[in-house]
Amino acid sequence: MCGIIGILGSHEVSPQLVEALKRLEYRGYDSAGVATVDASGRLDRRRAVGKLVNLSDRLVHDPLPGHSGIGHTRWATHGAATEANAHPHRFGRVAVVHNGIIENFRDLRAELESLGIQPQSQTDTETVALWTGYHLDQGMTPLEAARATLARLEGAFALAFLFEGEPDLLIAARKGSPLAVGHGTGEMFLGSDAVALAPFTDRITYLEDGDHAVLTRAGVQIWDAAGRQTHRATARIDVGATAIDRGGYRHFMAKEIAEQPAVIGNVLNHYLKGDRIVLPEGLDFAAIDRIVLVGCGTAHLAGHVAKYWFEQLAGLPCDIDVASEFRYREPPLSDRSLFVAISQSGETADTLAALHYARDKVARSVGLVNVGTSAIARDADLALPTLAGIEVSVASSKAFTCQLAVLAVLALEAARARCRIDDAALAAHLRDLRAVPALIAQALALSDECRVQADWLAQARDVLYLGRGALYPVALEGALKLKELSYIHAEGYASGELKHGPIALIDGDVPVVVLAPHDALFDKTISNMQEVMARHGRVLLISDAAGIAAAGDGVTASLALPQGGGIFQPMLYAVPMQYLAYHTAVAKGTDVDQPRNLAKSVTVE
Ligand code: F6R
Repeated sequence: MCGIIGILGSHEVSPQLVEALKRLEYRGYDSAGVATVDASGRLDRRRAVGKLVNLSDRLVHDPLPGHSGIGHTRWATHGAATEANAHPHRFGRVAVVHNGIIENFRDLRAELESLGIQPQSQTDTETVALWTGYHLDQGMTPLEAARATLARLEGAFALAFLFEGEPDLLIAARKGSPLAVGHGTGEMFLGSDAVALAPFTDRITYLEDGDHAVLTRAGVQIWDAAGRQTHRATARIDVGATAIDRGGYRHFMAKEIAEQPAVIGNVLNHYLKGDRIVLPEGLDFAAIDRIVLVGCGTAHLAGHVAKYWFEQLAGLPCDIDVASEFRYREPPLSDRSLFVAISQSGETADTLAALHYARDKVARSVGLVNVGTSAIARDADLALPTLAGIEVSVASSKAFTCQLAVLAVLALEAARARCRIDDAALAAHLRDLRAVPALIAQALALSDECRVQADWLAQARDVLYLGRGALYPVALEGALKLKELSYIHAEGYASGELKHGPIALIDGDVPVVVLAPHDALFDKTISNMQEVMARHGRVLLISDAAGIAAAGDGVTASLALPQGGGIFQPMLYAVPMQYLAYHTAVAKGTDVDQPRNLAKSVTVE
């Protein structure tokens, strides 16, 4: 994680660095810092613990002149969130910002100490600055010094180096972590992503793994992992698509929840033309015998929901795993498997590594991504956009339901291609799917009722979520959302599993949220709900009108979703999961859009 920025500009650069960092704050907000080189060549830096606003305040009182600079927003990995551990790290004539983890930093540090150089922080990054400064002191040029340091680094990194006495020079390098070069007119930029650079330029060159680059105001020179000078294509990005504003909502999350009917509608319009499913060439579900879905967190749970669809609709065996486990357990894959990496950001390190593990072993690899310019989009055989639009709030909402919408289309295509459903059944499922945006629009009206229930949940120490079938992963998602936003401990369980242990947790103080649409599994789930109530558990039932009527008395509260959506109902049930977590967080006064300890894009293992 962490966001990095570099600018060789023509104006005072500190305000620009801070503006870009604002767009990167989703990557971490434990501390922030900037370094500049002024016209006389003087290198200096300012750093502040906590959110970017603290750095902005510091710069008001203690400005930093110069037209060239680097900046950083940190998600702490090595060392606490202190000013000493904040980037940029400086040693002598060089300052460095870094995203990633230098895995051999302990060895590098020990060597430095034997040379009489004492680190001032607990970070892995500082060793990069120390080694580069040391090489400069040995008489190397900035490029030689950076190269000598890069040759020693193991792990993942995106790095930017700024040098005293060099107001027209930035050196950049990437291995594992993404890095984009932006081209201005007489100005050059560097950033963790194109969104950060959008206020300055729409012309972007993505560095590839192992590349390092020299930026001057005249342009960029790039070398590949083998040290050969190389050319990387420059593309124009859609700057409009990177607009970030709350649109009158109190939080980005509230806005993003409310956008779901529109963005899911866009997804369906993109992938469906009438009764026809429109997918890019090269997805032949008749030719595969297994689908493997991998992601992290909420993206993994989208895959978990889709497993039910692929298996039930298409009779296609479906493996689902969290990327961090998948990549190291060396799962056997065959050339008749389809691999799908699911990721909002498209940059999640574990998901990217899982894709790299799988892509040469399977028939085809697909990246299901929201950020079309991301590493997963570029590295997969095929990128399928989830078209949710930019998602700013750290907790995923609309990206999840848009992932589900694309996965629903894929499951229907798999069922069609494998002759598991006839045209009439396909048309009926498509009708159900097309009904989802309007049903979600109705479900948004539950926000006020969720706010009422949130007052109750906000008092709880633990909350349980129960669901069955494809609603089980939605229960997991509900618990995940509540944990991350309100810091209340929550767990999701398959309703039928409760009596195998977790039922011991039930007492009058533990709210139990039960997801039970009035479908074929309803009676089973309601029996489990009765088992909870028989032990004085207090139940919040989420169902439809028929389900609430059939469930009878005894629940503490209920929320009625509209009926419809067929097997795609999990998309609908995601909405109260989001609102319950959102309103509970608001009731508790936590930071909704930037919960503690989290970051939107998790680019470290
Ligand atoms: C939870 C959440 C995370 C992400 C996870 C994967 O609300 O947002 O669990 O889903 O970090 O991120 P992406 O989808 O960017 O790979």
